[in-house]
Amino acid sequence: MNVVVSVGGSVLAPDLDPERVRAYAAVLEDLEASGHRLGAVVGGGPTAREYIAAARALGANEIALDGLGIAVTRLNARLLIAALGERATTAPPEDLDAAREAMRRGDLPVMGGTAPAHTTDAVAASLAEYVDADLLVLATSVPGVYDADPTQDADAIKYAEIGTGELIDLVTDIEMDAGSNAPVDLLAAKVIERGGLRAVVVDGTDPENVAAAVAGDHDGTDVVPDDE
Ligand code: UTP
Repeated sequence: MNVVVSVGGSVLAPDLDPERVRAYAAVLEDLEASGHRLGAVVGGGPTAREYIAAARALGANEIALDGLGIAVTRLNARLLIAALGERATTAPPEDLDAAREAMRRGDLPVMGGTAPAHTTDAVAASLAEYVDADLLVLATSVPGVYDADPTQDADAIKYAEIGTGELIDLVTDIEMDAGSNAPVDLLAAKVIERGGLRAVVVDGTDPENVAAAVAGDHDGTDVVPDDE
């Protein structure tokens, strides 16, 4: 299968623990060894939030803050590249064309962000659409899509499956600033819908959940096109 994996910065690098990054690389290597073609997009996590908060206090505007966020996503991508070694692109591709070309060559592109005003979820969804991915795996700090914020509401229920239209309705109401608990950002949800993509949202704190998502046997949420 062609698979694009979005790895939240808060699950890959909540701290700079090399073992966690190594464990992610090992799962991606195993998936490649079993014949899947992969692309990866890495988020900025708490480090991006710290930089953004500091620069916001200094008076930087939102586009400038996005630039800082993108820089940190690419730093985190380089960490995963360090663990993947020869299998990965030597540096994070800076746009979708370069990432698609890398996949065509048989390299594993590890991207960060691309342009201001969205997040790496949207980059991953766009790459998935561009390479006609069979599956988009969103490895996040939230273990799936819930009907309410599970960190605020003890009665929140996790969907085993959700249609793209309902997903868009759900995330439209959630504030999208850094620190929000939205499982997927709105733009990503819209790209998933228009591309008719299949996606899975899993708890990324355990990289084995990414392998489980590809195997179709996971505890997260399947996002399915509305016509299915
Ligand atoms: P993330 O994709 O990491 O945000 O981008 P996130 O989803 O809130 O965090 P984690 O990693 O899943 O925990 C961090 C910030 O970088 C900028 C945005 O400001 C975003 O909030 N960014 C990122 C962009 O502007 N463009 C991009 O393509 C990616």
